[in-house]
Amino acid sequence: MRIDVLSIFPSYFDGLTLSLLGKARSAGILDLTVRDLRDWTSDRHRTVDDTPYGGGAGMVMKPEPWALALDELAARPDDAAHAGDAEQNRPTIIFPSPAGEVFTQATARDLSSREHLIFGCGRYEGIDERVFEYAAALGEVRLISLGDYVLNGGEVATMAMIEAIGRLIPGVVGNPESLVEESHEDGLLEYPSYTKPSTWRERPVPEVLLSGNHAAIAAWRRDQQIERTRTRRPDLLPGDDS
Ligand code: ADE
Repeated sequence: MRIDVLSIFPSYFDGLTLSLLGKARSAGILDLTVRDLRDWTSDRHRTVDDTPYGGGAGMVMKPEPWALALDELAARPDDAAHAGDAEQNRPTIIFPSPAGEVFTQATARDLSSREHLIFGCGRYEGIDERVFEYAAALGEVRLISLGDYVLNGGEVATMAMIEAIGRLIPGVVGNPESLVEESHEDGLLEYPSYTKPSTWRERPVPEVLLSGNHAAIAAWRRDQQIERTRTRRPDLLPGDDS
C-alpha cells in the first residue's frame, strides 16, 4: 500500500519509523512518504494560511498549495498506460476533521484494502472548503473524525488512523490470529488477559484459564466480552439507541 501524508509539521510522523509499521516500511509492505505542504508554496515566507472571508477568529489554509500538492501526489506514473482502469487507480484522499464521519474499526478495514491513501493534515481553523471539491476530481474524498473532541490539527488523527489501517495490511502483524480476537473486530470489547504468576499479590488468575478445558475457556471469554461491553460500552450492543 502507498500512503502519502501532507502536513506543515512533517516531524510529527517520525514515530512511524518505529515498531511494526517501521518494519513494514523497511520490508516494502508499506510505502509511506510524509511531505511538507510548504514545498508547494512559491513566496519567500512559504505562506500556507490567510485571514477568513466573512471575518472571525484564526486563519484558514490557502487552497493553492493544496491543489498543487494533490495534483502531484494523485498523478499516476503513466496516465496513458492506465487509461482503462482510471477509477481503480484513483487515490482515497482523507482529510482528518472534527466535522467528518467517525473513524471506527470498520473504516480502518475498508481503508486497509485501498491501493493509495493521501492524508491532508489541516491546521488553524481549517482548509478552504473549495479544496475538498477540487480533490474530489482526483480521487475519493473522505472527511474523517477521530472522535467528538478537537485536536490542534490533523497530524495526531492521521497517525492514529495510519496505525489502525497499517496493522490490517497482510504481513504487518506477524501473527494474523492476534487481529481476530481484538476489541471491536467482532463488535465486542476484548476479554481480559493474564500471564504468570498464577497468583500475584494475593490475586489469583480465574481458575478456568488454568483448567486446560478449551471449550470452557472459550465460553468464559465470550461471557467476559459480553459483560464488559454491556457495562463499559452498551452503545455497541444491538438494541441500544444511545
Ligand atoms: N482535527 C482536529 N480535531 C480532529 C478530530 N477530532 N478528528 C480528526 N481530525 C481533527
